[in-house]
Amino acid sequence: MSIEQRDQLVYIDHGEGDEPLSTRKMNPLFSSILEARLARRQVLKGSAGAAALGFFGLGLAGCKSSSSSDDNGSPAPADLLGFSAVGVSSADQIVVPEGYSYQVIIPWGTPILGSFPSFSVNSTGADQAEQIGSHHDGMHFYPINGSSEDGLLVLNHEYVEPRLMHASAQGVALSSGATAPLVGGQRPADEVLKEMNAHGVSVVRIVKGVNNEWSVQPDSMNRRITALTPMEIQGPVRGSDFVKTLYSPNGTMTRGTLNNCGNGYTPWGTYMAAEENWAGYFTNKGDNPREHSRYGVSSGSGRWAWELADNGADEFIRFDASIKGADATQDYRNEPVCFGWMVEIDPFDPTSNPKKRTAMGRFGHEGVVFAPAEEGKPVVCYSGDDSRFEYIYKFVTAANYNAATANGSMLDEGTLYVAKFNDDGTGEWLPLVYGQNGLDETNGFTSQADVLVNTRLAADFMGATPMDRPEWGSVDPANGDVYFTLTNNTNRNAGNVNEANPRVANRHGHIIRWKEDGGEQAATTFSWDIFLFGGDSGDSGVDTNIGYDPNGDMLTADNILSSPDGLWIDPDSRVWIQMDSGYRDPFGNCAMLVADPTTGDLKRFLVGPIDQEITGITMTPDQKTLFINVQHPGEGTSPADFATRDYTSNWPDFTPTTRPPRSATVVVWKNDGGVVGS
Ligand code: FEO
Ligand code: CA
Ligand code: CA
Ligand code: CA
Repeated sequence: MSIEQRDQLVYIDHGEGDEPLSTRKMNPLFSSILEARLARRQVLKGSAGAAALGFFGLGLAGCKSSSSSDDNGSPAPADLLGFSAVGVSSADQIVVPEGYSYQVIIPWGTPILGSFPSFSVNSTGADQAEQIGSHHDGMHFYPINGSSEDGLLVLNHEYVEPRLMHASAQGVALSSGATAPLVGGQRPADEVLKEMNAHGVSVVRIVKGVNNEWSVQPDSMNRRITALTPMEIQGPVRGSDFVKTLYSPNGTMTRGTLNNCGNGYTPWGTYMAAEENWAGYFTNKGDNPREHSRYGVSSGSGRWAWELADNGADEFIRFDASIKGADATQDYRNEPVCFGWMVEIDPFDPTSNPKKRTAMGRFGHEGVVFAPAEEGKPVVCYSGDDSRFEYIYKFVTAANYNAATANGSMLDEGTLYVAKFNDDGTGEWLPLVYGQNGLDETNGFTSQADVLVNTRLAADFMGATPMDRPEWGSVDPANGDVYFTLTNNTNRNAGNVNEANPRVANRHGHIIRWKEDGGEQAATTFSWDIFLFGGDSGDSGVDTNIGYDPNGDMLTADNILSSPDGLWIDPDSRVWIQMDSGYRDPFGNCAMLVADPTTGDLKRFLVGPIDQEITGITMTPDQKTLFINVQHPGEGTSPADFATRDYTSNWPDFTPTTRPPRSATVVVWKNDGGVVGS
């Protein structure tokens, strides 16, 4: 079907008075980018083109395929997606393909250390520090001795739903984002402590037993990192005036990590937790300096009013960043600058302090993705800033990789770049380096620490391309192509569309990808295209928010999706795509799909329960066990229904009178023992 025919179909399907045709006219870029992509596909599908170009998804695919050959004698790519797609589902359960099974493990409140306190709404703040946190997100499996049956599962806990956490909230008509009731205008300190301890990261040893089922092992490496854990500030911002506080007058330490969304895993075996929507946890009732205001620190109370803890303890009131003391070492005016970083954690050393790696920039880090490390070359990683019209960044280490000696200090020296996507399909990495390209006193930047603390402002100044909410990314191990989800941006309008973000009112998001020039991951220029557009299928499509798969074909019942968020490319180059969508109809509950970047096949693999998002993904080394997270089931429960425990979801316990819906990890395996997805 030609583009023209497709447009015609869309128009006819909507009938008179509907908007698609006029929207397309308002937004010609959408068609042109699709056309360009299809033209590329046409070239790539030809055998000569595929072999010669090695471009966009095709690179080494032929080399790892089965022995079958196509008409031209070159190897045909193996069929990566060997399962039958599951349908859209609105059921309050996990749906996996035929021939697969699953198990739910470590829901919020699972005891993992200390006195192993069991889950209860009456659990204390101290109990929570010995239990799995809430709102599971990014995650990675660290095998012990290379095992695929024994390892440390490390996972983020992005945020909390306070109404589910406290006895004082039960029976009260509260929304999902509301705090438990204030008492005399204050928060009971133990409630604040419990919420802070439900944030952060869990490290938990898990082993595989009979029937493929996994269980938690009591282990000295089990650990909770929370919003209170001491952390070191490393890199160029360490010791600068920007991070001096009453807690750390020399600006070298801080406490806790917040809103840990996506993650990363380094070539040297450590874990990276991202700090995403941290700004809302703070209040600043006085002058809001640019390092607060550009990130959204407001004068209203913090997200859960932690600064109002009734005992006035230092670790709680620090969330009020108003100027109170004689200088920065007497108050917490700089506390918000201690957040917005990537945090490195060594999961195998439970006594180690997590390290905030400031050279990688300060923004709403969704996560970080490392390109496969190459001996003798810089280490390269990418990180998106998930907010409307924010940017995608790349960090290139100053030192070259040496597997024998590489460690986290590599992340303290290097160059942070921000992406500019040109409309012609080329792109540039713009360096954020003090003293270069006007990032100096003339334009208000006084040091590299200043550039990093104000990463967003430096990127603004350099002319980076504002994106439709960059979420997760991944690098295709077969060819180095980098994929990033752009989850949605309903504020995008005709006046600010560009080829990389071509949709007006982008409700369902898209996935962009690029190849670094010259096959060098550290290159400063690249070529890009759009991998897929999320959205409805053609039959019931809505203007430019109709979805298109990697071949440019309309999405179907097997693969409609909205708001791609989590993304991971497995060792065989399957592109796993996770939804975080607020649209129930026609997409059903949030799901996980898989794409074959070579053939363009796209299939729905798993659907979650009601009112949740699927996020976080990792596998055992043998790829026979997949772990994903279900975050915030039942979050849409209305205040009135909450008061009567009539949750929209009762997953995973289905005992609403004693246990509310809880975030949890889901383990998935293939019944025949094969590679998941194959
Ligand atoms: Fe925490 Fe951008 O998702
Ligand atoms: Ca996310
Ligand atoms: Ca979310
Ligand atoms: Ca999201």
